[in-house]
Amino acid sequence: MPALVIGELLGVPADRHGELRDAATAMATFDASSNESATRLAEAVAWLAKTFTNVVRSKRDEPGDDLISGWVRTRDDADLLSEDELVSLAFLMMLAGLENAAHLCSNIFAALLTSKDPLGDWSARRREVIDAANPLPFAIRRFAVEDMTIGDHTIPKGDTVLLSLFGADSDPARAGRPSLMFGRGPHYCLGAQVTDLIVDVVIPELFVRYPHVRLAIAEPELEYRSSWRAHGLVTLPVTLAR
Ligand code: HEM
Repeated sequence: MPALVIGELLGVPADRHGELRDAATAMATFDASSNESATRLAEAVAWLAKTFTNVVRSKRDEPGDDLISGWVRTRDDADLLSEDELVSLAFLMMLAGLENAAHLCSNIFAALLTSKDPLGDWSARRREVIDAANPLPFAIRRFAVEDMTIGDHTIPKGDTVLLSLFGADSDPARAGRPSLMFGRGPHYCLGAQVTDLIVDVVIPELFVRYPHVRLAIAEPELEYRSSWRAHGLVTLPVTLAR
């Protein structure tokens, strides 16, 4: 679902959405211990690069009401981004959005399905539930451009710095500061609003379509991916009917 929403926003034609979903699945289910999975991932990445290249080219001749058409227009008017950069930007939108949004939705489902009143008043509780389901432990890595001293620690110039979003949000001194789930400042998540949109459609809809949905395993059996980069479930087995 997140892949199709992002694909549509970018302007990937509808007749490519089936392949887009397959490529997204290969990316989201990548298992580093499997050669077969690595081959599927490489094919998916090649397909996305080829498809975005074709979309960028075709939008110049036939622009639409989509992001890539807007980027092409801006690029042609202001001579800002090269074709490669436009393809990379489309790729980044897909990569940055897909895994996070998919994990966020399944983390939210897991939290709701293990609570006493699964959906409850969604609009009243959504902010708290979304913040608690954050799938992204760390921000994108930074590099110290000069020696930095923070508290008792010196970070030497050139070192990699990982900013812990989970740490910041669980800091007892946080008080009323808003969640850093989507970052802050100039690199604030470009997809924060579309994430809200996806979550508000996907989450209530499951409970409307399947009022008897429940977890098919005991809560302690829920298995999370072993990754420092992403906090998401390996699978979320549910029973849809009563
Ligand atoms: C649960 C969902 C998501 C979470 C938790 C999340 C979180 C974040 C965070 C924390 C950053 C800032 C990273 C930093 O400063 O180091 C970021 C950046 C970004 N996000 Fe998201 N994101 C989500 C969904 C999406 C979606 C759906 C899209 C695209 C449709 C997206 C596109 C981006 C892009 C392109 C950036 C880079 C912005 C920049 O560097 O200027 N994200 N995201």
